[in-house]
Amino acid sequence: MSKKYLLAEHTIERDDIKDLVEWLKQNPWLTQGELVREFEQTYARWSGHRFAVFVNSGSSANLLMYAALLARESLANRKVIVPAIAWATTVAPAIQLGFEPIMCDADEQTFGLDLGQLEALLRQHGAATVIIVHVLGVPNDMEGLLALKKRYGFQLLEDSCAAMGTRYDGKHVGTFGDMASYSFYFGHHLSTIEGGMICTDDESTRDMLLMLRSHGWTKDLSAEEQARMAEAHHVIPFNRTFTFYVPGYNVRSTDLNARIGLSQMKKADRVVARRVENHKTYQSRFIGAAGLHCQQNPRGTISSISFCALASSASHRDRIGAALARAGIETRPIGGGNMSRQPFWASRFGSTDMRVADRIHTTGFQLPNHPGLSTEDIHHISDTVLAVSAT
Ligand SMILES: Cc1ncc(COP(=O)(O)O)c(C=O)c1O
Repeated sequence: MSKKYLLAEHTIERDDIKDLVEWLKQNPWLTQGELVREFEQTYARWSGHRFAVFVNSGSSANLLMYAALLARESLANRKVIVPAIAWATTVAPAIQLGFEPIMCDADEQTFGLDLGQLEALLRQHGAATVIIVHVLGVPNDMEGLLALKKRYGFQLLEDSCAAMGTRYDGKHVGTFGDMASYSFYFGHHLSTIEGGMICTDDESTRDMLLMLRSHGWTKDLSAEEQARMAEAHHVIPFNRTFTFYVPGYNVRSTDLNARIGLSQMKKADRVVARRVENHKTYQSRFIGAAGLHCQQNPRGTISSISFCALASSASHRDRIGAALARAGIETRPIGGGNMSRQPFWASRFGSTDMRVADRIHTTGFQLPNHPGLSTEDIHHISDTVLAVSAT
């Protein structure tokens, strides 16, 4: 049977399962416990953050980032600029939590935010929050974004759910803004079956995230912070553990998922190195190729989850799709395309014409990148695409 080239493959391998089974035989604590804390510390260290909070998905991580901004009651307004090229749950929590989302077009190179349009929107609306997505692992123009952050003073959330291990000027994405989210869903860099992480360098934000994660109580905070909160709210000692300080959720994960996460972290460097290498090989084949436009950021070391390009037209993309299908190579549209064309947005705010996001929507396609693919595989996939004439 000829080889199939899937967009994503399992990262939980035999050694992870063996480790999990051995651990389960010890009759361990299965709800959230010590291993969650250990996984958080390991991940924070690896990704260059002070703090990490483990939750049950990347979507929950996004939800809590927004919720933490609201709960801290320090936002000047509820306006948030969201990217047109995003995942649905990058944008959905803004709607659910009563933010006023304003959509910004994509940059032609990075597919992240178009900074010219972002600045115009900041001038017009004075939004207190901006959320970005490092689209499929390619970093935004962080120098430009940080200059705008300095000028306009917004809170910056980095949805890095598909960008674990990507660096910009040698620094991990996710470490530039106020909070960052990551996903450990199947097909992402590492998997905890389902799972997500929120990272921040700010201790009080971390404490807020811990409360929001778990019902609004303080049980996961340090003993000193628990006591301080109880005293500030005149809570008698008997009631302390069952006092709810903020309107919380339950988006916890468990020690079982953290055990898998810890086992997966041993492979983090290897997985990222392979993805970076594969991405470079794709770039060497596609940048400048006739009829194709590539997503890129020359300042990035790109640990992509998939390689993206734009065909010259929708029919060119159809022909590429057919050639890939014949060769057993999976492809798909880029993320969800222009989010303003998705019913959850369009039915509320109408769909918006966006020059770049629409082009990505109608001509973009993803190609497989995962640690199971070799350089030869990437050349084979590239050959298949490049053999399709643009006209
Ligand atoms: C950019 C982005 N944000 C958020 C998510 C949601 O992550 P999860 O599937 O873990 O909820 C994804 C999932 O693919 C994503 O790509």
